[in-house]
Amino acid sequence: MKKSVVFLVIVVLMAFMVDTALAAKAKCPQKRKTKKAPSSLYKKDMTSKADAAAGKKIYDKTAKPMACKMCHGDKGDGMGKLGMALTPKPRNFTCKKTMKKVTPGQMFFIIQKGSKGTGMVPQKTLKDKDIWNVIKYIQTKFMK
Ligand code: HEC
Repeated sequence: MKKSVVFLVIVVLMAFMVDTALAAKAKCPQKRKTKKAPSSLYKKDMTSKADAAAGKKIYDKTAKPMACKMCHGDKGDGMGKLGMALTPKPRNFTCKKTMKKVTPGQMFFIIQKGSKGTGMVPQKTLKDKDIWNVIKYIQTKFMK
């Protein structure tokens, strides 16, 4: 009798652990209903001269009201501390299938204007140059 109770407890605990591990895993492909940038901006790409190191500072620290990594995460998979609590989830930059449709110009559009009705608010303190820098950082760090 006792043995079977212990066994049952172990099974329940393991099921719980598997469940939380799955819940904390980034989704790929990720559902994406984000508004598309106007076509001229969608095709625009100014990242060739952008500075990834300057972009990293924005991503990790200086973006207002909050650093990008709070939501998009250290690994760029959308699993930042705050990101996990959001619906829809922050973009998983590491997911090639989803990011195929997200051009640099598309990223620029959403970073500047935000994605209405989601946690992705307009990044009003960033100048155009800052935005291209943070895009370059995301590309080189998470999208390879
Ligand atoms: C408060 C949480 C939060 C913060 C902070 C945040 N984001 Fe997001 N971000 C989101 C969410 C949620 C989405 C998904 C929006 C959607 O599904 O339309 C998103 C989407 C995106 C996308 C994808 C756009 C697309 O067309 O798919 C990019 C690029 C992006 N964020 C860049 C950034 C950058 C750069 C920063 C920092 C300057 C930042 N985000 C800060 C929550 C956040």
